Amino acid sequence: MTSPTPRQLFVTTALPYANGPFHIGHIMEYIQADIWVRFQRMRGHEVNFVGADDAHGAPIMIAAEKANVTPQAFVANIAAGRAQYLKGFHIAFDNWHSTDGPENHALSQEIYRRLRDDAKLITTRTVEQFYDPVKEMFLPDRYIKGECPKCGAADQYGDSCENCSAVYTPTDLKNPFSTLTGATPVLRSSEHYFFQLSDPRCREFLREWALDSKRLQPEVANKAREWLEGDTGLGDWDISRDAPYFGIEIPDAPGKYFYVWLDAPIGYLASLKNYFDKTGRDFDAFMADPSTEQYHFIGKDITYFHTLFWPAMLKFSGMKVPDNVFVHGFITVSGEKMSKSRGTGISPLRYLDVGMNPEWLRYYIAAKLSAKVEDVDFNPDDFVARVNSDLIGKYINIASRAAGFITKRFDGQVSTEWARSGDAFLDHLRNVSDELASLYEGREYGKALRLVMERADAVNAYVDANKPWELAKDAANNDRLQEVCSRLLEAFRILTIYLKPVLPELARQVEALLNVGPLAWDQVSTPLPHGHRVNPYVHLMTRVDPKMLDALFEPPAAAAADDAGAAAQSGAAASEAMAPIAPEIKIDDFARIDLRIALIVNCEAVEGSDKLLRLTLDVGEGKTRNVFSGIKSAYSPEQLVGKLTVMVANLAPRKMKFGLSEGMVLAASAADGKDPGLYILTPWPGARPGMRIS
Ligand code: 2FM
Ligand code: ZN
Repeated sequence: MTSPTPRQLFVTTALPYANGPFHIGHIMEYIQADIWVRFQRMRGHEVNFVGADDAHGAPIMIAAEKANVTPQAFVANIAAGRAQYLKGFHIAFDNWHSTDGPENHALSQEIYRRLRDDAKLITTRTVEQFYDPVKEMFLPDRYIKGECPKCGAADQYGDSCENCSAVYTPTDLKNPFSTLTGATPVLRSSEHYFFQLSDPRCREFLREWALDSKRLQPEVANKAREWLEGDTGLGDWDISRDAPYFGIEIPDAPGKYFYVWLDAPIGYLASLKNYFDKTGRDFDAFMADPSTEQYHFIGKDITYFHTLFWPAMLKFSGMKVPDNVFVHGFITVSGEKMSKSRGTGISPLRYLDVGMNPEWLRYYIAAKLSAKVEDVDFNPDDFVARVNSDLIGKYINIASRAAGFITKRFDGQVSTEWARSGDAFLDHLRNVSDELASLYEGREYGKALRLVMERADAVNAYVDANKPWELAKDAANNDRLQEVCSRLLEAFRILTIYLKPVLPELARQVEALLNVGPLAWDQVSTPLPHGHRVNPYVHLMTRVDPKMLDALFEPPAAAAADDAGAAAQSGAAASEAMAPIAPEIKIDDFARIDLRIALIVNCEAVEGSDKLLRLTLDVGEGKTRNVFSGIKSAYSPEQLVGKLTVMVANLAPRKMKFGLSEGMVLAASAADGKDPGLYILTPWPGARPGMRIS
């Protein structure tokens, strides 16, 4: 087995926008990168694995404004929610920072100055763009809607028509309006700053970096080739945005900020610098060291930024360029695509909340991942089958069948005189170590796990052939029993090394069971010493109960109703007596209703009313509202305090017998009177007071 020379690695995952909680797509990427990082560490390499929140940009600025907080407070609130996911899924970042940190301000400005002054690759141009005269800001395309210039369909975004698929620019729209204020946008000019990617130096460098070097995955290189060698070639990149903007100021350009995509990847360096500053290491020396390797794990949707803009920015500012960018596909759930912004599908927190083991997901995702840019499908039945058959049936079973005898019959001691190299049974396991290492290195986790499970099959065949439970019946077989069970524990130890990058917590428990220190890759060939004492077997992992999957996918509103003690009603039964759907409305009619997430700060009974509860609601306005709701028959005040729900926030206040009601809480009820229950709505985890529902 080869013993690699220690490498010095800098590894990142894409920085998530700080405008919402992690969705399952983020978790998949983190699992992919975390496995790679853990594998590298087990090989004795130094890995610096960092992440950060991508804090800047117009959407976050606007979301903060809606929530009535500063953008800084808004992103800090999002950041506060990150740890529970990372800890929950055993994602071991060395550091988590923010692109709004001082390091990123300084680094972004420095890189820009070098691009401008040393490389002379910055230029300015006048750009005409839509401007919202009410909000007094230039409108990013996503905030402009209007009628399609081709087919006339109403309410189309500024880039393409959902009705006829025509592609155009916002200025082509008929009757455009700002989705922020409803105002008609006006065209206005301003000076923009450009990174001159059309410069031949950039093209030449990128051709070498992205194509000639053969570093990229083949399908990524093909894309890069299209972009670099297509008819239009690379255009200059507009890197500035006008105030108001939540971002980093462009030096010597008052009122101008870097476009979020300029400073976002620099956030990788900023997080590393923040980490090094905290741990007393020299960031500049590390980045200047030619032996440092830099890798970025990203999703396929942001390939363009990472294979063109980012390496070029680094190169022409005299910084180290990435060694590679590892691109993965999306995660689908039962074949359904998820929405990136809404992240529907599986809620990572709900996964943990219903008591599912994070390592089941790590294993399942790893088993489906390859080095290709393919989508990964989460299929509930496949998940149950894969985890139960591989992890429990093939792997955990080995220990559960052997460890008990060692404890009970041999005082925990293993006999391993026979376990040196040359032992055919163990060598069969040991001799895949190099192949597995290359598979992990090349992110072919699915292939790696298949190979491990093949070897686990061989170990199980050994169990079946030697039947320790039969040997245990006759004390004359004691030596043989000890050898068979010791052999099985040694095999289990080797398999644990192979699975440790994927199952770090389980490996930790196995290390405790085997009474050994942290297992490293090269310990594959170092058996437990003869006479070594292991600890009594404790159950290592349970099977997936398919009911958990039902709970995972159950709509949270129904789950909330269950919590309140109401019986869940099947969809089919409910639909038989369903109230007729109301007459059709236009999207604009719906848009007039302002639905908000509300926190129930307080709730009390109303004296003299047997129907009403008085709710004190926080919808993020900096003050609370008083709302009367006829839900007393369904909920007691204690059940509601502290919960999130949904309210109509722009309903005219109503004077009631008991006081003023400033809005309405939504509740579901059946039309047939058979189920007299009322069910208030609860958002999925991550929603916050004041968020608009649209
Ligand atoms: O697409 C996204 O979610 C971006 N926030 C990714 C940024 S990656 C890096 F450049 F920061
Ligand atoms: Zn159209």
